[in-house]
Amino acid sequence: MKKTALFWFFIIRSLIGFSQSVPQDYRPQFHYTAPKNWVNDPNGMVYLDGEYHLFYQYNPFGNVWGHMSWGHAVSKDLQHWETLPPALPEFDNPDGTQTMIFSGCAVIDSMNTSGFFEKGFTKGMVAIFTSHIEGKAQHQSIAYSIDKGRTWKRYDKNPVLDLGMKDFRDPSVIWYPEKQAWIMTVVKPLEYMAQFYESKDLKKWTLLSEFGKQGDMTKIWECPSLTKIPIEGTKEFKWVLMVSSGHRQKNYLAMQYFVGDFDGKTFTSQKQNEILYVDEGKDFYAAIPFNNLPKSHTKPIMIGWINDWEYAREIPTGDTWRGGFSVPRELSLKKTANGLRLVQHPVMALKKLAFSVKNKVINKAYEVPFKGEVFDLALEIQPQQAKAVTLNIFQSKDEATVIRYDVFTQELSLDRTHSGQVNFHPRFSSIERVKVPLKDGKLSLRLLADKSIVELFAQDGEQVLTDWVFPTKHEGGITITSEGGNVKLNNLSIHTLPQ
Ligand code: FRU
Repeated sequence: MKKTALFWFFIIRSLIGFSQSVPQDYRPQFHYTAPKNWVNDPNGMVYLDGEYHLFYQYNPFGNVWGHMSWGHAVSKDLQHWETLPPALPEFDNPDGTQTMIFSGCAVIDSMNTSGFFEKGFTKGMVAIFTSHIEGKAQHQSIAYSIDKGRTWKRYDKNPVLDLGMKDFRDPSVIWYPEKQAWIMTVVKPLEYMAQFYESKDLKKWTLLSEFGKQGDMTKIWECPSLTKIPIEGTKEFKWVLMVSSGHRQKNYLAMQYFVGDFDGKTFTSQKQNEILYVDEGKDFYAAIPFNNLPKSHTKPIMIGWINDWEYAREIPTGDTWRGGFSVPRELSLKKTANGLRLVQHPVMALKKLAFSVKNKVINKAYEVPFKGEVFDLALEIQPQQAKAVTLNIFQSKDEATVIRYDVFTQELSLDRTHSGQVNFHPRFSSIERVKVPLKDGKLSLRLLADKSIVELFAQDGEQVLTDWVFPTKHEGGITITSEGGNVKLNNLSIHTLPQ
């Protein structure tokens, strides 16, 4: 390139760079995001001594994927998070390669089964993660901490589980009291296969069994977990195997689950006539549950990564940060006519009542007298004569994120095609759809809206849709409309963060 051409090239590039770095106010207020840089999967979620730990896939050097290390945040209430320095960094190997710290979990080794801790010390934390050497190997390794995850030592005989494979990852370990042993669930992603291993000391692992090659196989399998989940209204429970994999809509990512039994060796899935998805939105992936929760939590709690690998690298959150995490969700199972189904409830709630109304009949459109981009909304409607009802949020003159219920098809949808910035990636503009039958003629919704994240829970957590949206006008209008007849708004309440 000639000198003058180069000059103009740099001028134009810096101008484009400048316009891109104008901050768009997309930073969520009550969902955890790292202060800067790229994040993906939650890792090592564990409770210890009044602190909930969220480790996560983190690039300390930029806001695209790379140099994967474990970032770290802690919370005392599952709502307010404090970012701590990164916990487990990528490291150099003697042969010049690097080992990245891929996804994994953490446990509290209160009985010192690993022998890493001093006699009688009950607060030792052990991280079990995939040690990844780009293009060469993936194996499982461990590290331990005596100061509540602030500093770590890697085990000097890593890896602890190596099949000599390039794709073998995402260990999730639980304590299984009946055998006084640790059980690891881990996947061979390209074979759509989960494997279960057992260990007495977190160092030596023995294969127990495998489960896979069924359900959704449209995408590789990642980030498995095996969790004992209570059945609502009973004293019973079932084991649920979750894996991150494909979406109901082709070529997107989502999570699926299998409900069944685990006898300490084998996971057996109940007969399933359909594939079960955890979240029907496009942006819920790689969720894993907390370990070591105190007894006061009677249900498991999980957090997921809000993003979809299809476009994750390009979401327009600005130059500093990219990616975020869902609110913690409590898990239970519900008996339905089709079998047991997963139910999810946000564990947190916004407390400041900003607006509420009861028993309002809507004919055509109701402009809710509240504007905002950070809110926790609950409503119950009875469609009565209406054929469809919509709830429009993040609304301005020509933009809205549209939640729609079609009474005839019983379909609930979340339409982000006119939500704001959608053209940054050809696959982003989308409509999420799920069948949600009315209950006694009613539909209840709980909507957590947080600048650019929407988590929508329908019929008391029976269905969930999670999506990114990027409104450009930031006017935050909310309108409810009815088509074809009256809809009765039994109640609507909106809570916000205290100012
Ligand atoms: C899932 C995943 C995991 C892997 C990690 C790497 O999103 O691909 O399988 O451990 O991300 O960052």
